[in-house]
Amino acid sequence: MCGIVGYIGPKKAADVLVNGLERLSYRGYDSAGVAVMDEKGRLAVRKTKGKLEQLKRLLEESPVDGCTGIGHTRWATHGEPSDLNAHPHTDVKGGIAVVHNGIIENHEALRKHLEGCGAVFASQTDTEVIAHLLNELYDGDMLHTLLRAQGMLQGSYAIGVLCDREPDQLFCMRCDSPLVAACREGEGFLASDVPALLSHTRDVVFLQDRQVGVLSRQGLRVIDEYGQACEPSFFHVEWDQSSAEKGGFAHYMLKEIHEQPTALQNTFAPRSRLGDFQWLPLSEDTACRLRRITIVACGTAYHAGVMGKYALEQLARIPTEVDIASEYRYRQPPVGENELLIAISQSGETADTLAALREAKRRGASVLAICNAVGSTITREAGEENTLYTYAGPEIAVASTKAYVTQTEMMIMIAVALGVMRNTLSMERAEALYQSLRELPSKAADTLGLEGRLQQIASRMSSRKHVFFVGRSVDYALSMEAALKLKEVSYLFSEAYAAGELKHGPIALLKPGRLVVACVTQPRVLEKMLANLQEVRARGAEVLAVCPDALAQQVRPQADELIVIPDTDEWLAPLLAAIPLQLFAYCMAVARGCDVDQPRNLAKSVTVE
Ligand code: G6P
Repeated sequence: MCGIVGYIGPKKAADVLVNGLERLSYRGYDSAGVAVMDEKGRLAVRKTKGKLEQLKRLLEESPVDGCTGIGHTRWATHGEPSDLNAHPHTDVKGGIAVVHNGIIENHEALRKHLEGCGAVFASQTDTEVIAHLLNELYDGDMLHTLLRAQGMLQGSYAIGVLCDREPDQLFCMRCDSPLVAACREGEGFLASDVPALLSHTRDVVFLQDRQVGVLSRQGLRVIDEYGQACEPSFFHVEWDQSSAEKGGFAHYMLKEIHEQPTALQNTFAPRSRLGDFQWLPLSEDTACRLRRITIVACGTAYHAGVMGKYALEQLARIPTEVDIASEYRYRQPPVGENELLIAISQSGETADTLAALREAKRRGASVLAICNAVGSTITREAGEENTLYTYAGPEIAVASTKAYVTQTEMMIMIAVALGVMRNTLSMERAEALYQSLRELPSKAADTLGLEGRLQQIASRMSSRKHVFFVGRSVDYALSMEAALKLKEVSYLFSEAYAAGELKHGPIALLKPGRLVVACVTQPRVLEKMLANLQEVRARGAEVLAVCPDALAQQVRPQADELIVIPDTDEWLAPLLAAIPLQLFAYCMAVARGCDVDQPRNLAKSVTVE
């Protein structure tokens, strides 16, 4: 959630750092700062509460000279957002500067110990203990000092470090928090996430846990926890800078909604030959023996998992449970033979999902990861060979859109593959589904044309206070995601209910002025849904319904507003219907003047519990 950048080279470091921080601003932050060092090792820190504009103003009023530096955008965890709590933090003498992502769990004990040694703390942050600790342990060699510090730091960290006694080097180290380094002729770069590096290079090194990176004008050295040099393994990033920027759209969220046809295509294309299931890292034998699947994820990815449960149970006849990762990790789940755990995560860095994956591995489950971010921690923990990438491209907006549809598409593809392998799904049915998957990108592109209509609806409905989302079967899974989308970006109170549950409580809240968004994509439960909508309207609440063309005639009489999507396979209809519902959330947020890409209190990647 916080962002780290670092630079060493011939350029003015402050400019490179601020530019890099801007590329990471999508992560959400409440303060920002830089530390810059000149060749003589004179270190200067500039930091402030608020947005990067404030930091830029500060740097204009009080410039910093030097070609080596570290920068940070902070999202408060320990201590309020303030100038003092902003990173970088320094030791008492101001000779060591540190930026940090993650949480130092034993910071209180370390603080006491360091205060006993004479350290005077300036902030309430856990990060500051790192600066004082490094000073305390410093033996004239920051690389060794960092390796020694590892044994004393508990928790998660990705850190960038400057030391005035070693002015021609920039240090970094990680444990359970992502860090990427890169270098090119005479320059070295550091970041917590790839977009900050793309304007400089697309060849990057993902540091592993407990590795220390040393950047200098001569290049990058990587040293493992035992002090042994490792050959840095460079990874070529396919995303270019423009794909990480807004590309003419008003917001990243809107851009990413529009990227969905391509994203869906990219997810499907490498797995598009029915019968060739090599892409799925499960042998036919293993597939046939599977007794249970557990899906773990958080937020939007969890909703893709709920959709996956329906598909796996119905198409592949495998009992499937889906659990919120933060619950799974602590509920001591029994894991037996022939069980598979699927972790779904866009970022591949969500702390709870990672912990759930580790817990399942510890208990002996086979694991499979569905991830978007290549090289992320979850993919490494699951093993690249057990990872299915969604290839949705960088998702910058906090509210997830293209990651969701591709995760859902992936779950359906897995269910079809397992269904065929286990003989629970006929080839004929599988072929029909694959044909619909082939047509999905162009139908998704058609739904984008609904934006104007949704804008009108949103401008009329933006003053609503409470919105309910209802659906049955897979439409209930869709309702959960649609409700989350609306609350995330528009701050409206929105809740999803299985339509059959309406009578068991929520109906008490229905009255004129309430809005009920109905997802009606499933012919099998159409009659029941229509009955539910009659009940809703009988209480004076308003209905906005989304349905495929084939059902429009029957749904129209029960809807105040109707959004019609193209016809497709019933398993893919909720996926297609998600797009206008994302647009609805987006248009409501814009109409209400909300910060669409960086919603209040939310972060793109939740790397702490
Ligand atoms: C945060 C984001 C959500 C996301 C969730 C899980 O809450 O704001 O959009 O769905 O984390 O993230 P992951 O990267 O694991 O999919």
